[in-house]
Amino acid sequence: METSRKPIDGIRTIGLPQIHDPRGDLTFVEGGNHLPFDIARVYYLYNVPVDAERGGHAHKELEQVVFALSGSFRMKVDDGHKKSEYWLRDPRKGLYISRMIWREMDRFSQGAVCMVIASHRYDENDYYRDYDTFMTAVGANRQ
Ligand code: TYD
Repeated sequence: METSRKPIDGIRTIGLPQIHDPRGDLTFVEGGNHLPFDIARVYYLYNVPVDAERGGHAHKELEQVVFALSGSFRMKVDDGHKKSEYWLRDPRKGLYISRMIWREMDRFSQGAVCMVIASHRYDENDYYRDYDTFMTAVGANRQ
């Protein structure tokens, strides 16, 4: 399998509006408008140690959009054939991740907050937590 910086199908940036104001900026996201799915769940990561590694799984059906609401972190994505990575640091720009993408997150800045908007409620049965099982599922040849 080759490592690639080429765009992966199913990964794209979603830009949100910004209402700029000297009192502070405001950004909003509307289900059915800015996202390609209906919003079923929102969760967020905070108090993340700077040396933490999160993710390390893929989803069978779940679609997500990931934001750095504060600070920054790295998102590594892998469809089984190509790998790419993104730095999230702009709260106006979300990273859309489709189903069947292995993702790993690290390099969190101090105080970073990661918000995830998801297409389904939490379901452990939707996860691939084993990389080899994921690779088999996407038909990838690891030789
Ligand atoms: P996990 O998805 O593995 O976290 P990350 O990808 O950020 O490293 O979830 C960590 C734990 O939290 C796991 O025990 C499942 C639980 N969890 C929920 O109960 N509900 C949720 O919406 C999420 C995302 C996780």
